[in-house]
Amino acid sequence: MADSEEILQWYILGGVDEIYADEPYNALAAENKRPCEPAVVNQSRSPQVLYQTSAAAQRPATTLLAQSNNSACNNAREVCAAAQSLEELKAVMERFEGCSLKFSANSTVFGYGSPHADVMLIGEAPGADEDMQGKPFVGRSGQLLTKMLAAIGLKREECYITNILPWRPPGNRTPTNGEVAVCLPFLQRQIELVRPKYIFLLGGSAANAVLDNAESISRLRGHVIDYKTSDGLIIPALASFHPAYLLRTPQQKAKAWSDFLRLQRNLSEI
Ligand code: URA
Repeated sequence: MADSEEILQWYILGGVDEIYADEPYNALAAENKRPCEPAVVNQSRSPQVLYQTSAAAQRPATTLLAQSNNSACNNAREVCAAAQSLEELKAVMERFEGCSLKFSANSTVFGYGSPHADVMLIGEAPGADEDMQGKPFVGRSGQLLTKMLAAIGLKREECYITNILPWRPPGNRTPTNGEVAVCLPFLQRQIELVRPKYIFLLGGSAANAVLDNAESISRLRGHVIDYKTSDGLIIPALASFHPAYLLRTPQQKAKAWSDFLRLQRNLSEI
């Protein structure tokens, strides 16, 4: 008979790498079915963090889901605008419950690095290592990113590194448009508070979310594109391949290297 370690390995091989509860839960059993429970928005005048009534709520009808996502986006924008420092924003993000990814993640992975950084690097979402350690880009792709930064004379700690989503999507699946929309105000506020001189976007998801377009990363990289904050500041942005993609496709490293060199050159001209 297999011992418990072998059983765990078997689960991990099958892609089950998260434990949601101590006991198995049959979501299909009749007694576990719940009525729809859309998110609730506090209507008071000062912005309050949105709380969902239940993490295990059944998927509501599409219109209700869209409405609750819309409320969550409005709520995120409101609470983010009220945050006057990165510390306040981090506290708000940790209390925010308008994105269901929060309930399957171990940590809320806020941005890391210098609050006065010249360069802000933006990835997609925490992976398993980031979720365990609570910091962005600390796994294999983070190690490659750190090496590429060092090669252009930048230390990780001198930059500000963050993601579009602060919570790991289960099994590293691609985030949905709704999840990106709810989390975007947190990223936009980080940009406004850090006010970097350059934004460097890692991968197509980050580039599309920040630049609000649907172009492929192959077409976006290699150009400087202006990003405009809500208070009118224009920050030049460069996009490149995601380090995880470079680990899988090392033949693209030469192009990524030329993007990093361009960043180095542009920074030296500021
Ligand atoms: N991939 C990302 O996009 N972000 C991380 O923080 C780690 C891996």
